[in-house]
Amino acid sequence: MNLPMLQVALDNLSIADAFQTTRLIHEAVDIIEVGTILCLAEGMKAVKIMKAAYPEKIVLADVKAADAGQIIAKMAFNAHADWITVIGSADLPTAESALQEAKNYANKDVQIELTGAWSFEQAEGWRRAGIKQVVYHRSRDAQAAGVNWGQSDLDKIKRLSDMGFKVTVTGGLVLKDLDLFEAIPIYVFIAGRSIRDAKDPKAAALQFKRRLAELWG
Ligand code: 5RP
Repeated sequence: MNLPMLQVALDNLSIADAFQTTRLIHEAVDIIEVGTILCLAEGMKAVKIMKAAYPEKIVLADVKAADAGQIIAKMAFNAHADWITVIGSADLPTAESALQEAKNYANKDVQIELTGAWSFEQAEGWRRAGIKQVVYHRSRDAQAAGVNWGQSDLDKIKRLSDMGFKVTVTGGLVLKDLDLFEAIPIYVFIAGRSIRDAKDPKAAALQFKRRLAELWG
């Protein structure tokens, strides 16, 4: 199995605050996510500034587009995002139009963000539309309400992987959670608060990388 990549989620309220994390950890991660919160707080300027600061990293704009897929994709790709997210509950044409926009540039991609309700029937539609990536997400609010990772999550993640999707996993992940997913080919793990809020964010990111290598290497 390939080694999963590590993505840091920057759900900060300002670009300056986000840089407090990235200046410490950028070398330890593969992907920098301009989180939904930062996208809303600072707009696509945050994406542009992050990609300019770290051109060697994949920069994801977590816009969670729910409609107007082509327009939102264009805004993010013009700000030099490499990847963007479309929310799973969006109509299929939203995902299709975002993906169509991605094809106007080199190396851009669209991920379907699986937060809240979605179905495998929809997943078949995304696959037929040419979507390659999905993000399996235990939402921040579900986590706060006490929802834990369970067998049904693992089964769904495995099924998505068996369908041929590159699967990202996220949602309040802490280091010990990685063990749960060991038997599954995961493309990316995203950690936000467990890196950003750590006493030593660089050490926290490196611990994630080390554990990924131990489990998938
Ligand atoms: C919130 C998100 C977060 O970026 C993602 O869940 C990672 O953050 P954390 O590890 O803090 O939960 O998409 O909508």
